[in-house]
Amino acid sequence: MHMRIAVAEGDGVGKEVIPPCVEILTLLLNDPEFIHVDIGYAKWAREGTPITDADIDLIAQADCMLLGAVTSVQGSSVLVRLRKTLDLFVNLRPFRSYSLTPYELNLTIIRENLEGLYSGIEELSDDIAVTQRVVTRANVERLASFASTLRNVKTVTIVHKANVLKSDIFFRDVCVRVLQEHDVPYNEMYVDTAAYNLIRHPETFDHILTSNLFGDILSDEAAALIGGLGLCPSANIGPKFAIFEPVHGSAPHIAGRGTANPIGAILSTTMLLEWAGECEKASLVDVSVKQTISKGITTRDLGGTSSTNEVAREIIRNIR
Ligand code: NAI
Ligand code: MG
Repeated sequence: MHMRIAVAEGDGVGKEVIPPCVEILTLLLNDPEFIHVDIGYAKWAREGTPITDADIDLIAQADCMLLGAVTSVQGSSVLVRLRKTLDLFVNLRPFRSYSLTPYELNLTIIRENLEGLYSGIEELSDDIAVTQRVVTRANVERLASFASTLRNVKTVTIVHKANVLKSDIFFRDVCVRVLQEHDVPYNEMYVDTAAYNLIRHPETFDHILTSNLFGDILSDEAAALIGGLGLCPSANIGPKFAIFEPVHGSAPHIAGRGTANPIGAILSTTMLLEWAGECEKASLVDVSVKQTISKGITTRDLGGTSSTNEVAREIIRNIR
């Protein structure tokens, strides 16, 4: 299949970790077309907006998108806008151990990506601030159905705070019904208990299904357990489109030094390949990343001394 992939390096380390991903996709896909899009903080500084309507139109013409990271501009989240405009209701974040820490993890977080406390429905006055936590039936139904149809699901843990929040009684009940309909084994856990158990017994988790903010927080915790944010990929998935990006941000203090870990971004291309049905090619990249880490060719965040480029070159050499 001839794929059209929108590519936005964005800001900071995005500019360092995305070029090797483009190289890997060029190597593995049949004549892919890359549509380069300039978005982010630097664009905002120049043009007063981090992303224009024309950028969104250009992105929507592609089959999917690869994104580095965008430095936040207060009051205007590029990621939230892209997720909403492109209806990317799932945020999928796998966390696998690479023997870099004592923890054994093989966990995927399935995070709701459009609503909850990120609804954007807010009011701020001098003495009170209110953010609405929105949970809609149709959206949770499609989220739980998505979780049910993933390959290799052993148990889905629904993470919520239904002992306090009515919106989470609703979230949990819709999830339970859909998982039961699909005959998927599940259990449930309060979010505070989940945060604790993730540290105490990380190996007991398989898939976590949760709302937007809880998923955001538990993801960073899981990232710390496997060795750091630099390792972690993610996919924002909707009915027709998907954006693949490392979990980390633009990491301004290490940007431009050639020390950023490219693995989170490179594993995002693995997720892109899987999404496109190219599972064998995806596993080539995965295996190559594992080999590179086990040889100790790693960047500083993982205790190594290699540069971004050295790690990327080794991964690409293994793929070839
Ligand atoms: P960050 O993820 O950029 O950095 C957090 C920590 O992880 C820092 O110590 C950084 O040096 C380290 N780190 C991140 N990526 C790394 C890599 N590839 N290799 C080695 N170390 C790495 O988060 P932070 O500092 O909170 O945010 C920086 C900017 O990025 C902010 O403007 C934030 O809003 C934005 N951001 C953007 C995201 C996106 O575009 N999806 C996601 C998260 C933050
Ligand atoms: Mg986050």
